[in-house]
Amino acid sequence: MNYHIQSYQQYEKARQEAQLNPELFWDKIAQDNFIWKKPWHTTLNYDFSKPEVKWFEGGQLNITENCLDRHLKDRAQQTAIIFEPNDPHSKTEHLSYQDLHQRVCKFANVLQSNGIEKGDRVCLYLPMIPELAVAVLACARIGAIHSVVFAGFSAAALATRIIDCDAKLVITSDGGFRGDKILDLKTIVDRALEDCAMVKTVLLVKRTGNRVVLKPNRDAWIQPQLDSASVDCPAVVMESEDPLFILYTSGSTGQPKGMMHTTGGYMVYSAYTFKNYFQYTEGDVYWCTADIGWITGHSYIVYGPLLNGATTVMFEGVPSYPDFGRFWDIVQKHRVTQFYTAPTAIRTLAKQPLSLVTSRDLSSLKVLGTVGEPINEDAWHWYHEHIGGGKIPVIDTWWQTETGGIMIANLPGIIEAKPTFATKPMPGIQVVLKSEDGQTLEGSAAGSLCIDFPWPSMARTIWGNHNRFRDTYFSTFQGCYFTGDGAIRDDHGNYRITGRVDDVIIVSGHNLGTAPIEDAINEHPQIAESAVVGKPHDIKGQSLCGFVIPKNQSIDASDLLSSVNRLISEEIGPIAKLDQILVVSGLPKTRSGKIMRRILRKIAGGETSNLGDISTLLNPEVVDEIIQQFHQSK
Ligand code: WT7
Repeated sequence: MNYHIQSYQQYEKARQEAQLNPELFWDKIAQDNFIWKKPWHTTLNYDFSKPEVKWFEGGQLNITENCLDRHLKDRAQQTAIIFEPNDPHSKTEHLSYQDLHQRVCKFANVLQSNGIEKGDRVCLYLPMIPELAVAVLACARIGAIHSVVFAGFSAAALATRIIDCDAKLVITSDGGFRGDKILDLKTIVDRALEDCAMVKTVLLVKRTGNRVVLKPNRDAWIQPQLDSASVDCPAVVMESEDPLFILYTSGSTGQPKGMMHTTGGYMVYSAYTFKNYFQYTEGDVYWCTADIGWITGHSYIVYGPLLNGATTVMFEGVPSYPDFGRFWDIVQKHRVTQFYTAPTAIRTLAKQPLSLVTSRDLSSLKVLGTVGEPINEDAWHWYHEHIGGGKIPVIDTWWQTETGGIMIANLPGIIEAKPTFATKPMPGIQVVLKSEDGQTLEGSAAGSLCIDFPWPSMARTIWGNHNRFRDTYFSTFQGCYFTGDGAIRDDHGNYRITGRVDDVIIVSGHNLGTAPIEDAINEHPQIAESAVVGKPHDIKGQSLCGFVIPKNQSIDASDLLSSVNRLISEEIGPIAKLDQILVVSGLPKTRSGKIMRRILRKIAGGETSNLGDISTLLNPEVVDEIIQQFHQSK
């Protein structure tokens, strides 16, 4: 079966087939578009109450054979990855499928010679350089489970993740270039590893030429090992349900959730959605601006594009360096056809002089995508008009680390866009809205966004904590997966995601749990207790506002924001810094002692009335005081 959807009719047909018989639908897609070493005996086995989900059981494969080896026949010399370095004057690299295959095989052999075997966890803490993609694939080649940690996370956050997944080996670099900054990654890794005895080996990629100190018997430069490694590395046989990777996401406690994805289903779904959502065709140059440290980079920089034999751009830098025209420079330079970025980037770039856009030739573009947070109407129209020339489709793609691939979005040119709406689900994705009391809502409605039936790329567990997986996603509403998002559905079945309904705040497209931030704030010697909420922000979508109770009255508030932010940067990373801090004498609490963030959210958003029922609070009197504090601080 050709899996390319090219018309609304085909979309409807696929949607109906998938609704009637999901197993058969995915069965055909999986069989006809990938290389399996052994066919599966059971397409789907699931029980959401456990929860347990198994796709393509009995099937055997290696995802890198599907990403690389099978393309060598027809596209060995075609570019797989275009590497665009941070410095626009440095050399762009074009890695062909053959180059990439060789580099992955060598890297995989080096991992093996360092004792890494199928099932071992390998942590990658790297800048956006080709070695990151190569290392991801090298792990997959030998069945090692990769866990990429975004290179903006602090030493403490890195250590938490390494310990949680019990990684044996860490791959990092002497540094990274990001705009006019140099990231000192090796020092961060050294500090993280003070607490991680399980890590036996650190392999170092040379990037910046920073002076680094190698720890004997632990650290080694990887290049000499690559130089002498063989280009031949047979792909390890994987079961469909063998883990492929662990990727951490924030939750409502301090401990991040290690979402575990498996091999067969993830391959099928990331490939299928890449093809259709970006309508990728031969000769296109696709660019997603995300970092491989996030799920977007896993599915739509590395796996999805390579599974389709595409050319994918990897950009090391930031949108503001050397100036705010950089994205458009890159589009022009590489004749990018599909461009995928986050609303926060669009809002930032929309604030710059339009000449930065109009001076570049963007006529190669065919599809524009956004992901990570709701896109507001102004940003949508700016993107559509100024980047797309008012002519090409903008797709608003809703999905999550947990879902592995795009779930709801308008297929470009096929499903009509509706600004601020992600629109319709992918065939095979059974979206339902639930009321607070668990009823399934029909027709136009607002409720909690849930998925009623398994799809191939859903996360299978939280690494090492299956109970938390069940409690977080499968216990709020019986028999379905709860996303944590609220949504509304219009008369035509289009979905608009309204935002998180839990304690996760999305800042500049990054998922941040309130709990880890509050834990960091509470480390402050002068602070007794804290609560963090999100408030609307022009560019970031949401920004963080902290309410803190001092240990004693005489706290010096002037320096508080910066000292608190230093702590947050150390514990989590600069992405979680507060924009505002308010010193208060109490926090609104329920009689059971739970902080009512709903009230704080409203106050931080500037509301003084309509705070809802506060009479059931333990301490309703603090509300007025907090409102006053808030207005004085402005
Ligand atoms: C959360 C998942 C998967 C991509 C990167 C983020 C929010 C994501 C949209 C969108 C409105 C969106 C949701 C979701 N989100 N895309 N198009 N419209 N909200 O992955 O870090 O796991 O975050 O991002 O709230 O639950 P993530």
